[in-house]
Amino acid sequence: MKHFLTLRDLTPSELTRLVERATELKKMQQQGEVYEPLKNKVLAMIFEKSSTRTRVSFESAMIQFGGGSIFLSPHDTQLGRGEPVEDSARVISSMVDVVMIRTFEHRKVETFAKYSSVPVINALTDEFHPCQLLADMQTYFEQRGDIRGKTVAWVGDGNNMCHSYINAAQQFGFKLNIAAPAGYEPQQSVIDAADAELFICHDPKAAVSNADLVVTDVWASMGQEEEQRKREAAFADFQVNSALMALADNDALFMHCLPAHRGEEVSAEVIDGPQSVVWQEAENRLHAQKALLELLCA
Ligand code: CP
Ligand code: NVA
Repeated sequence: MKHFLTLRDLTPSELTRLVERATELKKMQQQGEVYEPLKNKVLAMIFEKSSTRTRVSFESAMIQFGGGSIFLSPHDTQLGRGEPVEDSARVISSMVDVVMIRTFEHRKVETFAKYSSVPVINALTDEFHPCQLLADMQTYFEQRGDIRGKTVAWVGDGNNMCHSYINAAQQFGFKLNIAAPAGYEPQQSVIDAADAELFICHDPKAAVSNADLVVTDVWASMGQEEEQRKREAAFADFQVNSALMALADNDALFMHCLPAHRGEEVSAEVIDGPQSVVWQEAENRLHAQKALLELLCA
């Protein structure tokens, strides 16, 4: 049994195959082919933070695959009343075939996985967002071919998305330039664990120079809403706008996991412009997670 808590839980060849499979599943769906490898299987979805894309993509994936899903929030389950994660994991996993969790501490998904009898998928923690990277890699492969040897620029917070990009740099073999404000760099432990070509600086221009893909994310993530003002000041010079994109390769793509704040981390002309593939990226959450569910439970 495999869990998917970070991109490091799959091998580089499993990840490449998964991304290719996602595109195959997308074509099958576009052609109206009915494919139900998870008939009668159930996904439990534990959401301790908000979501649009992750919830809709996982629920749709299970319906299209012939199975079903159960949405669980801390507001109306015993999870919110202090039932231990270990106990919840044993009970929930005894009744379903796969579990997806979106929460705060990464430790919580690790503990849940330890006591779960079925595969566990990390649907975002404070430290990692691996499902998003599956969709991002699928999108790059579809638009430009293999990302191996290419240069990716991460501009902004050294957060969960940035950490997953660091893991992806190792697993998919691209060079990663990271520009984060002082005090908002990625965690040293994540950097040290990665066998990847990383360049970490405080200068967005240096990071974006000649990049094939430019990526950013919100300045204040879920759970950091009170830091919004402080972060706006710290990140003021880190907006991805046309002047910054002009330093990247002519063919460079722009990605953002969404939701986005136009006028903050990205200008409207970039996110709504010709280099942006954010809508393809969002749709690919569905196809990439179908490939993941198939790999883990079919
Ligand atoms: N990108 C992403 O995970 O979006 P949601 O928060 O809407 O699920
Ligand atoms: N870094 C963001 C990603 C949202 C999908 C957050 O954690 O809120």
